[in-house]
Amino acid sequence: MSNKAKLIIGDNSYEFPLIKGTENEVAINVKTLRGATNGVITIDPGYKNTGSCESAITFLDGEKGILRYRGYSIEELANKADFLEVSYALIFGDLPNNEQLAKFKEDIKENSLVDDDVRKILEAFPKNAHPMGVLSSLTSALTAFNPAFVNISSEEDMYNAVVRILGKFPILVGWTMRKKKGLHLNYGSKSLSYVENLMYLMFKHPNEDFQMNPIIKRALDKLLILHADHEQNCSTSTVRIVGSSHAGLFASLSAGISALWGPLHGGANQAVLEMLEAIKADGGDTKKYMAKAKDKNDPFRLMGFGHRVYKNFDPRAKIIKAAADEVLNDLGIDDPILEIARGLEKEALNDPYFVDRKLYPNVDFYSGIIYRAMGIPVEMFTVMFALGRLPGWIAQWKEMRLKNEPIGRPRQIYTGENLRPFTELENR
Ligand code: SDX
Repeated sequence: MSNKAKLIIGDNSYEFPLIKGTENEVAINVKTLRGATNGVITIDPGYKNTGSCESAITFLDGEKGILRYRGYSIEELANKADFLEVSYALIFGDLPNNEQLAKFKEDIKENSLVDDDVRKILEAFPKNAHPMGVLSSLTSALTAFNPAFVNISSEEDMYNAVVRILGKFPILVGWTMRKKKGLHLNYGSKSLSYVENLMYLMFKHPNEDFQMNPIIKRALDKLLILHADHEQNCSTSTVRIVGSSHAGLFASLSAGISALWGPLHGGANQAVLEMLEAIKADGGDTKKYMAKAKDKNDPFRLMGFGHRVYKNFDPRAKIIKAAADEVLNDLGIDDPILEIARGLEKEALNDPYFVDRKLYPNVDFYSGIIYRAMGIPVEMFTVMFALGRLPGWIAQWKEMRLKNEPIGRPRQIYTGENLRPFTELENR
């Protein structure tokens, strides 16, 4: 194949170089397009056909249902690694050896405290505030308590900012949940592993000894790994574009949390459970909701189905579905919601509307069933997604900043009024 693309506009012909990635993906490099064509640009709402960057972090093939972090398959990582090993690989490029992992875990523990004044910000929120709004605010507030980590200009600065946010974020997650449940705010313990500490922060009650449940611990570790990165999705693109203005890491992450909140993105895991609950309350009438999802006049969508990139099974959904069976079985929970989910999936996978549009269950379809079995409130589901996605956001932000990418500033095609005279108020 030629390494150039030819574009013909009117009587003029232009050539643009092709870029080929390590998995043989091909892009037309249009960096010189506007200058070469005297102002012609491309336009692609939702960027369905447009790449924003070259990245070495995550590869996914939507047609084949493949997902790899730094070349490692998601199946192997989910079954053989722990969340901090995967976080290290995403952020620094390779799975850590024993010494690197031990130092990483120790440095994170050394940063697992939050300035007590952060409580005052949390206390100002009403108890019914959505946890994603609280988490986004507290994350942005970390900038004020860690001013030295706004302008990151070296690998050492970057490492110190990484272990800081990885150490503090689980406390923000735990405090956000405890605020919702009316529990006092606590700290974890350095004697616990990362996920054990998260569970302690979330579930420890003041009047009882904390019992570590190994089933929940393993399932939580796996869920965090499965959410850790997903190339240039909406929230990651947000983190990148905010960071491209040289805003600090914590401010960029706060923006990413807000983008993830939307029900078309990470907020879907909460929307799935609410949908399944509605179907259950409606007598389990899945056919009625399938009809609603297919009705163009009905804004209802089958939450947890469809994906911008996966036109095959989301590999993460396969793993989470198996984990949901295992966790509910091991915990001895018989949740009718799981049966409704299975019934909905079976119907959709045999329905021409979904099959023709290649709409399969995505990462959000089964994850909420596990979170619920763990006793996590439904409004906290997307917070759990944000904790999982944290290393991916960090890795993508670091790659963008260390490559000194230009500030993100898309063009547009103007379709408004042409020049017209100002009309005095009395004449309008
Ligand atoms: C995540 O990008 C990522 O990587 C995201 C993510 C990550 O890890 O970061 O994977 C996490 O966000 C997963 C997606 C979670 N969202 C949901 O589950 C919400 C429900 N899904 C949809 O809203 C939708 O599928 C999207 C938003 C996920 C994708 O939308 P697209 O790519 O813009 O597709 P589209 O809206 O153009 O839909 C194509 C067709 C349309 O029908 P036609 O106009 O062709 O007739 O499919 C239909 C849509 O109406 N369609 C659905 C549907 N999803 C798409 N119809 C019913 N139910 C659905 N869920």
